[in-house]
Amino acid sequence: MAGPKYQAPRGTFDVLPDAARARRRIEDAAGAIFARAGYEPIATPSFEDTELFERGVGHSTDIVRKEMFTFEDKGGRSLTLRPEGTAAICRAYLEHGMHKLAQPVKLSYVGPFFRHERPQAGRYRQFHQLGAEAIGSDSPLADAETIGLLAELIAELGVPGVELRLGSLGSLDARRAYLEELKAYLRANEAELAREVRERIDANPLRAFDSDDESTRGAMAAAPKLVERLEGEDAEHFAEVRGLLDAAGIAYAIDPTLVRGLDYYTRTIFSFVCGRLGAQSEIGGGGRYDGLIEQLGGAPTPAVGWAAGVERLMLALDEEVAASGRDVFVAVAGEEPQQRLRAMVLAGDLRKAGISAEIDLGGRGLKGQLKQADRIGARRVVILEEEGSALLRDMQSGEQRPVAPGELVAELTGDRG
Ligand code: HAM
Repeated sequence: MAGPKYQAPRGTFDVLPDAARARRRIEDAAGAIFARAGYEPIATPSFEDTELFERGVGHSTDIVRKEMFTFEDKGGRSLTLRPEGTAAICRAYLEHGMHKLAQPVKLSYVGPFFRHERPQAGRYRQFHQLGAEAIGSDSPLADAETIGLLAELIAELGVPGVELRLGSLGSLDARRAYLEELKAYLRANEAELAREVRERIDANPLRAFDSDDESTRGAMAAAPKLVERLEGEDAEHFAEVRGLLDAAGIAYAIDPTLVRGLDYYTRTIFSFVCGRLGAQSEIGGGGRYDGLIEQLGGAPTPAVGWAAGVERLMLALDEEVAASGRDVFVAVAGEEPQQRLRAMVLAGDLRKAGISAEIDLGGRGLKGQLKQADRIGARRVVILEEEGSALLRDMQSGEQRPVAPGELVAELTGDRG
């Protein structure tokens, strides 16, 4: 049999109710954690001027080179569906003068993001991130606090087998000398490098550490590592972050080969990976981006944050959340239209009183309505009889008794069974 004529576009998916409830549990848990720590919610548009991402995320990144959904609007402006949230939040921070507020400004968000990647398990073209950013603090406390928020979310949700990897890229100045050393090493070992890595020795040498190519990985094992070259304040900052994580009891492993797919990172970078996931094992990650606000035209402003993939969390948790049963189904006997109206009014009154209540919208007879009540797991059924009287049936015991119609709401709210 032929499939349906229209399907969700490649790399996208529908979130059906069982999964949507699981997703809501994740978002609610994150929302509560953000609120308790004072990370206020923010939402930015789904698309931005293309240049924001080119400047913010970086011309040499895969995201900007290959993965953006870019289009021209009717006025000839180049727009891009947001591939990530941090550049847009920094744009909003500047646009709304948030640098004048008490610093740091602590923000959180959740929403859809778009990357034209090759779809596979855990990698989609439209996906959802939730994230936190602390803008305007260079204190290692901000690094440790934001990392702690994601650790707390993962623990609270009960995501199994998660490991935190930690690294540091140093400040931009300090990194320059290291990058020259790394480029020289890559050139000296060019024969062992994948073509993609070779082509990007000048543009993005750090990505060599991220290559899947066997031979490249072999060559990179002996490459100079940035964490081993950290000096002065960079080394101090990294040591303080580690000390704070130790004190908070957050376990981590230093990963000298850790790099990230965005150009804005400075100093601390981190990644939470889950052994349960396949190739796309990163649940969430982030780091410091002390140069980004300046890059976007603001004053030098240190910042740190992360984003987690909602779908990755869902895959790792592998759970569906069933609908909870309804409190009451209001059924009607007889064909009188007036009966349906009585049912609608009563259901409305019950809902206002905080009770979940449904009525039949399918034109079913009484037998069909009772069947439907059973299907949706209603605990009790009110049957509005033709004479204006009412019966209350307990679906578990099957017990049924008359209740005066005027007392139904009080009866049902007084004892929810
Ligand atoms: P990112 O590492 O590119 O960082 O993405 C964050 C998370 O989004 C990843 O760890 C992953 O869970 C999820 N993710 C990314 N791409 C996909 C995809 N194609 N399909 C499904 N999930 C995906 C950022 O975006 C930075 N803005 C994070 C950050 C915030 N850094 C500082 N502040």
